Amino acid sequence: MKTKINQLLDEVNSLKAGTLEEVEALRIKYLSKKGIISALFNEFKNVPNEEKREIGKLLNILKNNTQNTINGLRDTLSSAAKTEQGMDLTRTADPIKLGTRHPISLVKEEIADIFSRIGFTIAEGPEIEDDWHVFGALNFPPEHPARDMQDTFFIERNPDIVLRTHTSSVQTRIMTEQQPPIRMIFPGRVYRNEAISARAHCLFHQVEGLYIDKNVSFADLKQALLYFSQEMFGADTQIRLRPSYFPFTEPSAEMDISCHICGGKGCNICKNTGWVEILGCGMVDPNVLDNCGIDSKIYSGYAFGMGIERITMLKYQINDIRLFFENDVRFLEEFKSAY
Ligand code: PHE
Repeated sequence: MKTKINQLLDEVNSLKAGTLEEVEALRIKYLSKKGIISALFNEFKNVPNEEKREIGKLLNILKNNTQNTINGLRDTLSSAAKTEQGMDLTRTADPIKLGTRHPISLVKEEIADIFSRIGFTIAEGPEIEDDWHVFGALNFPPEHPARDMQDTFFIERNPDIVLRTHTSSVQTRIMTEQQPPIRMIFPGRVYRNEAISARAHCLFHQVEGLYIDKNVSFADLKQALLYFSQEMFGADTQIRLRPSYFPFTEPSAEMDISCHICGGKGCNICKNTGWVEILGCGMVDPNVLDNCGIDSKIYSGYAFGMGIERITMLKYQINDIRLFFENDVRFLEEFKSAY
């Protein structure tokens, strides 16, 4: 047995392997349960007592040497594989962290999606605008108090240039560029010189809607807004239109939806009224059509405008508008599964 072990020790010291499969074959040959070395350990029972000490020691050396040699062969081969391909294919993959889309983008897309189902296409316009597109064409005469409804940021050196206070400026752009039928929505960012608080910000987002054709009526407006509200807030949502004033629409209205949080019973979101305001709307004032080169004797139309932040806050019960602009990942990650 001693000679056998010594022979094996020599053999093991000069083991060679070209591939990882060969290394595995060697391991099986020498070290597995049915391998050569286990067989020797089994035979050990029969070794006479006076030799047990010496042979036992040799056997352990053989086992350790074999293990080390085989491990060494495996290591060299796998690091060679690594450098050959320039990467370590045995490494566990890093979990890839997916980002989240911003809630304002999600809701903007949902609004666009809902209106696209009833034939609205999308257009955009510039955020830096001239006075005529934001106010003049929309029936806000110079010095008219209606201009104070929206606190405007002016460009200091040229007060004719403003940051648009509403996406209604895109109505002007589109109506001066094309003839009806026009059925479009205009999403975008708007700016108002307001103190920042939980309810107001100096920049926010709106979606404007415009439909101009022959014989467009207030009933068409109401139907489109009802469809939108029920798609956005649930099939049992009701709407209510209250008379209001905008220089560019006549008649004008503000629209409330039945509070989807308390179901109309009254809660702190709807201030116990059962209704929450979500948008302004009306029939495009004939003056506006004429200002933009559309014949008001032939065409009529409706327009509406809503704040995306407001819709998002109601839909997801968010109580502070500033959260949308701070971009704290803990907030953003709450919208991971929103769509
Ligand atoms: N532009 C108005 C606002 O920002 C909203 C509006 C749009 C009202 C279109 C009527 C028609 O408050």
